[in-house]
Amino acid sequence: MARVLACLLAAAAIVMTTSASAPQHAQRPLAQKPPMGWSSWNAFGCAIDEKLIREMADAMVTSGMAAAGYEYVNVDDCWMAPERAADGRLQADPVRFPSGMAALADYVHANGLKLGIYSSAGTKTCQGLPASLDHEEIDAVTFAEWGVDLLKYDNCFNQGRPAVERFKAMGDALEASGRDIVYSICEWGDAQPWTWGRDARGHYWRTSGDIVDGWGSVVAILTQQAGLSRYSGPGGWNDPDMLQVGNGGMLTTEYRAHMSMWALLNAPLIAGNDLRSMDSTTRDILTNPEVIAVDQDWAGVGGERISDVGDLQIWAKPMSQGGAAVVLFNGGPAGAEMATSAGDLDLPDADEYDVRDVWAHTTAVTTGTVSAWVPPHGATMLVVSPR
Ligand code: GLA
Repeated sequence: MARVLACLLAAAAIVMTTSASAPQHAQRPLAQKPPMGWSSWNAFGCAIDEKLIREMADAMVTSGMAAAGYEYVNVDDCWMAPERAADGRLQADPVRFPSGMAALADYVHANGLKLGIYSSAGTKTCQGLPASLDHEEIDAVTFAEWGVDLLKYDNCFNQGRPAVERFKAMGDALEASGRDIVYSICEWGDAQPWTWGRDARGHYWRTSGDIVDGWGSVVAILTQQAGLSRYSGPGGWNDPDMLQVGNGGMLTTEYRAHMSMWALLNAPLIAGNDLRSMDSTTRDILTNPEVIAVDQDWAGVGGERISDVGDLQIWAKPMSQGGAAVVLFNGGPAGAEMATSAGDLDLPDADEYDVRDVWAHTTAVTTGTVSAWVPPHGATMLVVSPR
């Protein structure tokens, strides 16, 4: 009894010492799962204002996106006024965001959502507006005071200064701000941010240049992800860029394949379409619960390419329920029979396996071979589990 009491007292002393020395604004671990949300850039570019962002926050709830897990409403480039305020702070464009960003944060928060904002680790944003290089501390404090929950930090007008220093300066400033702010490093993969993104306090980092709304872009970005899975995991994810699903430049099979691969890669799922007017096909792609479950599931290893023959790539990752998710990806113009096996998926030996098609919502049984006819510019996404 006395020994138990001594242990309890010792434990209490450790807790007291720890809390006394911890910074007052100790932050929670963020992005333990890939963040999900929406961003203004892919569909709207600079044609944004506070009315649009508010309508999108509303639509995120009414469309079912929020219920599916989408949470961040991200204002990309072009929210800021052409000049800093007299006190040196960034300020919202007075015409397009007359109520200011704090009011916008309040509105988004009242919808049960979080607000993301944008700046650049350069002298200007990519669209030529004021940005945060050498203004990191004041800008991070300003974002925190406004109630911002995420910062996407771009790489334009960077003066040729080393990326690690520039991005870490903002990471440190965000941490020192005392607010939980997810930090999205948008360095385009130029200086291999997957190797230093965590040290810079990033929660996800772009691994590629900008996605465009076309199949060639999806294939090119996907190909760039091979070999990067070991850098991605809870608290720090590889980011193959925002989704183009629903923007009109691709076929439904192409958008499904795009979504399948982003989920298999544990990518941040940041929708980039107009949520106010999307049709049910688009909504079903973006909100498919079985696909989102693959994206949000972390079983210790990210999705990685296990086969690459011509236009045909097979990507897989373990699932925490004991199975494996696999995407049979056909980048080419002709349909193809594609196959892998329970052994290639590193599954334990079993007499039979369930093969769940997460788009068709059907389950088949196999003794080991996993195969499907995959349409041109398409993918089959399966979760294979020992029975
Ligand atoms: C860069 C980024 C894009 C977008 C634009 C905005 O190109 O990579 O994602 O933020 O800037 O100007």
